[in-house]
Amino acid sequence: MKPPMVQLNREAYLGFLEETLEADSLDEVRTRLAVLDRALSRPPGDLPQLFAVNGPGTEVCLRTDVLQAEIARIGAVYTLKRARYYLRRLRAGASKPKTTGVNDINLCRWKEYDEIITDSLWLVNRRDTSGAHLGWYWGNFVPQIPRQLLLRYTRQGDWVLDPFLGSGTTLIECRRLGRHGIGVELNPQTAARAKELVTQEDNPHGVTTRVFTGDSVDFDFAAAVKELGVDQVQLALLHPPYHNIIQFDDDPRNLCNAPDVESFLELFGRVLENTNRVLEPGRFLAVVIGDRYSRGEWIPLGFYCLERVRARGYLLKSIIVKNFEETRGKRHQKELWRYRALAGGFYVFKHEYILLFQKR
Ligand SMILES: C[S@@+](CC[C@H](N)C(=O)[O-])C[C@H]1O[C@@H](n2cnc3c(N)ncnc32)[C@H](O)[C@@H]1O
Repeated sequence: MKPPMVQLNREAYLGFLEETLEADSLDEVRTRLAVLDRALSRPPGDLPQLFAVNGPGTEVCLRTDVLQAEIARIGAVYTLKRARYYLRRLRAGASKPKTTGVNDINLCRWKEYDEIITDSLWLVNRRDTSGAHLGWYWGNFVPQIPRQLLLRYTRQGDWVLDPFLGSGTTLIECRRLGRHGIGVELNPQTAARAKELVTQEDNPHGVTTRVFTGDSVDFDFAAAVKELGVDQVQLALLHPPYHNIIQFDDDPRNLCNAPDVESFLELFGRVLENTNRVLEPGRFLAVVIGDRYSRGEWIPLGFYCLERVRARGYLLKSIIVKNFEETRGKRHQKELWRYRALAGGFYVFKHEYILLFQKR
């Protein structure tokens, strides 16, 4: 559900806050804020003249519930000094946005972004299946993963590279959020289907989302981005096969067919290096990966991949653990896995990793 928003006349609102800051008593502050509070409770389009927007570009768009909570907070303070502190914060929220430069999050209004996860444990219990997200591809990630990463590590109009595109989830999210996206997928049928789906998704921001068929080990990313009119991408999102857990096809170049873990990591490393060539310094690279189990031994693919990225000079920013329910393959084998776990002395996988790195 979309949060309630209100559009106020920016100049008028800032002027109102300025005058409130000059109030001589807490009572006066409260009386003035009650006027604003009442205005926020009126139906949209029925704002008092004082705050009414009088033309495009004259508005500031604010979360109504967050603003009302701030007004209530100011109403409850004991000193004028404290009230002014919160009033100055409201003023900053309607003034020039303060961002880190890698996203569009206005830090002066950080309370409005409750969709954005900041904890390292992600419990995503329902896959987003809206729009072109069909969930048809065995081995795809939930769209919430690219969505969170795009919101957190890109700005509108930035470029995103996904070298293991699969069904195109990342590019569908790019369209929704107004980011340009480039995806490379080895399997021609999968790439063709991804292309179909991505173009089915609305493109309200008019971004470019391009699907290439190719081997990301040696695909010329630089030429691809250049062809699209840019030199670099601002986010790389890598979701490789979890080695041979799912056999995507028989192509020996597919990372799922690497004969052993070492060769898998070698190929992964080459995709990393290739990606690194086009990733802008200071920007982020995310790897989504799970571990696997083989011949009585837990193979920590996630940690091995993590080390491969760090070895290339990247700064590790976070290790996120995300839950997952049974994949389609395992759903019917749940009981069998429980038996195997009890017999084999291990635990059944219920998590994967989202590893976050910053390019220095
Ligand atoms: C885990 S899936 C990615 C799923 C994707 N995130 C989605 O939501 O659909 C990994 C994909 O990487 C592809 N792949 C494997 N090796 C590749 C390579 N060398 N170059 C490009 N794609 C490759 C596989 O065919 C598979 O579709």
